[in-house]
Amino acid sequence: MEMRMLVRVLPIIFAAAVLSPCSLALTQDGLTLLEIRSTLNDTKNLLSNWQASDESPCQWTGVTCHPHELRVQSINLPYMQLGGTISPSIGKLSRLQRLALHQNGLHGIIPNEITNCTELRALYLRGNYLQGGIPSDIGNLSYLTILDISSNSLKGAIPSSIGRLTHLRLLNLSSNFFSGEIPDFGALSTFGNASFIGNLDLCGRQVHRPCRTSMGFPVVLPHAEIPTKRSSHYLKGVLIGAMSTLGLALVVILAVLWVWLLSKKERAARRYTEVKKQVQRDASTKLITFHGDLPYPSSEIVEKLESLDEEDVVGSGGFGTVYRMVMNDCGIFAVKRIDRSREGSDQVFERELEILGSIKHINLVNLRGYCRLPASKLLIYDYMAMGSLDDFLHVKETDVFEPNVQISSCFAEHGPEDRSLNWGARLKIALGSSRGLTYLHHDCSPKIVHRDIKSSNILLDENLEPRVSDFGLAKLLVDEDAHVTTVVAGTFGYLAPEYLQSGRATEKSDVYSFGVLLLELVTGKRPTDPSFVKRGLNVVGWMNMLLRQKRLEDIVDKRCTDADMETVEAIIEIASRCTDANPDERPSMNQVLQLLEQEVMSPCPSDFYESQSDHC
Ligand SMILES: Nc1ncnc2c1ncn2[C@@H]1O[C@H](COP(=O)(O)OP(=O)(O)O)[C@@H](O)[C@H]1O
Ligand SMILES: *[C@@H]1O[C@H](CO)[C@@H](O)[C@H](O)[C@H]1NC(C)=O
Ligand SMILES: *[C@@H]1O[C@H](CO)[C@@H](O)[C@H](O)[C@H]1NC(C)=O
Ligand SMILES: *[C@@H]1O[C@H](CO)[C@@H](O)[C@H](O)[C@H]1NC(C)=O
Ligand SMILES: *[C@@H]1O[C@H](CO)[C@@H](O)[C@H](O)[C@H]1NC(C)=O
Ligand SMILES: *[C@@H]1O[C@H](CO)[C@@H](O)[C@H](O)[C@H]1NC(C)=O
Ligand SMILES: [Mg+2]
Repeated sequence: MEMRMLVRVLPIIFAAAVLSPCSLALTQDGLTLLEIRSTLNDTKNLLSNWQASDESPCQWTGVTCHPHELRVQSINLPYMQLGGTISPSIGKLSRLQRLALHQNGLHGIIPNEITNCTELRALYLRGNYLQGGIPSDIGNLSYLTILDISSNSLKGAIPSSIGRLTHLRLLNLSSNFFSGEIPDFGALSTFGNASFIGNLDLCGRQVHRPCRTSMGFPVVLPHAEIPTKRSSHYLKGVLIGAMSTLGLALVVILAVLWVWLLSKKERAARRYTEVKKQVQRDASTKLITFHGDLPYPSSEIVEKLESLDEEDVVGSGGFGTVYRMVMNDCGIFAVKRIDRSREGSDQVFERELEILGSIKHINLVNLRGYCRLPASKLLIYDYMAMGSLDDFLHVKETDVFEPNVQISSCFAEHGPEDRSLNWGARLKIALGSSRGLTYLHHDCSPKIVHRDIKSSNILLDENLEPRVSDFGLAKLLVDEDAHVTTVVAGTFGYLAPEYLQSGRATEKSDVYSFGVLLLELVTGKRPTDPSFVKRGLNVVGWMNMLLRQKRLEDIVDKRCTDADMETVEAIIEIASRCTDANPDERPSMNQVLQLLEQEVMSPCPSDFYESQSDHC
């Protein structure tokens, strides 16, 4: 009896034992992690052991679980060269305590859903390209101890709910575009300026920058009710009294207004020149670093600057030579040594530089500092690893490899593995540069006319994101009257006809140059390419000729094998509007940006930013 029972049961047990590894599916947290991976761009394939066939994610790269449970406790994937976005699915990891994704290439927003991870203690997102704001409910993460989201492109106000985070010990919002008043209560009161470095538009006690008060001044004049049925004597007395009060009030109001205006002016000035001045003892040497953007001792900076030599040259242009400067901590900067400069006082020059140094945008090359040495003027910029668009589009046969490969223990040289730009990359460059230029024209005050838009002033970072460089420099360094003769040869094909004629640069002459730049992206040819210059045409005339002959396919760079005629046509249409001979007919940069966004991105808007979209 018992034996029969056993015989019947055994196979079932046996089968269960054999089958169990297969039938046990991946835990819910594991599935969630796979969703998270699907929006990441794991170019180096470092997450290849995240396998759906596993039972739990606890052995996966960068993942740890709570002991004895199969719930994810932490995700550690810093310095992994991850692109893509952070999936909102992160909110499903309800036991997550640590999320470390710093120093990657993530873009998109910080999903609101992250506030669902109620046990979160440490959030490291530093050094990515995240945009948008801080989720306003971040204050719900009551265990949060470390919040480091510095060095991104985040903007907006700082949510006051952060003040509720009583466990917060490290807060770093530096190097973003946050704005407005820093709430001054709870945890937010305990952090000083080091947590907010490099956010131009923040104000508040923590950054020692008073906010512009919304308080106006009561301009309600004392209103004297003059009674009608009184003796003239009494009336006189009242009148005199009223007049003198009125006069006194006026004087007071004027005085207050005057003081207010003065301080407003001063405050406005301070907004621009919130710079850390480190004046050297030697009067002829002066170092200015803008917005704490060069966190090195001035002695180190000056020493590095003085020791720059031929080996460090990355290029040279109309205004001077550009060097690469490597700091002791391996930070890399580009230094531009100005060969010539306009007559004029150093003060005026430095003041205008400070304005340029205050302009920050993800598609603009950041000017970090300025140094006047006895023998030269030096501008310190962000170093753009991939060089200029010009270098990319017009590879010289002689140096397929970068001309300035430098052996250094500091950094792996970005190899020229793939120096040709496909159509998608070119569109990204067109869009990004138009964003940078639009910012200069429409969002800066005073607005900035670039004056020198050309492919060698579009620099590219590791991800081929473009940044416009040298804005405002032409104005500082070139004499208004002598402009045409001093314009660098390389600039010629880009200049609008009316600029060449009158010498007056306007936003519309920038738009023309941008149109030429678009043509250069499409054709892969310099605006002074021999093939049309021989025929007495410039790039604009050449394009118009080919367009009349409907030879669109002859226009497109042969290297763009992925170009689709629809967007090519759209770009050429925009370029031809930008290069209209009549400046009034040209669109504004705002409109150009809109056109580019519409034409280029609308067929599949997510293509650019959501790497996972494969439908369309
Ligand atoms: N911030 C930078 N990072 C990396 N390379 C740069 C930077 N600025 C300039 N360069 C390189 O130096 C070259 C010379 O720059 P520049 O003096 O501005 O002249 P131009 O813009 O006329 O070429 C550029 O073509 C570019 O390759
Ligand atoms: C977040 O939590 C709420 C309520 O607890 C839930 O309804 C929602 O689905 C969660 N969102 C995510 C992405 O997990
Ligand atoms: C955060 O907390 C507030 C108040 O407790 C609540 O109303 C809100 O829904 C919470 N948000 C999330 C995302 O949990
Ligand atoms: C930060 O504040 C301290 C004083 O609290 C001051 O000495 C320091 O210069 C400030 N740093 C910056 C970058 O503003
Ligand atoms: C915040 O981060 C910036 C750069 O990422 C760094 O320079 C600064 O020292 C950090 N501040 C704090 C308080 O950690
Ligand atoms: C991932 O990044 C690489 C290089 O950064 C890029 O070529 C590729 O198109 C990206 N993939 C997706 C799916 O976005
Ligand atoms: Mg340049």
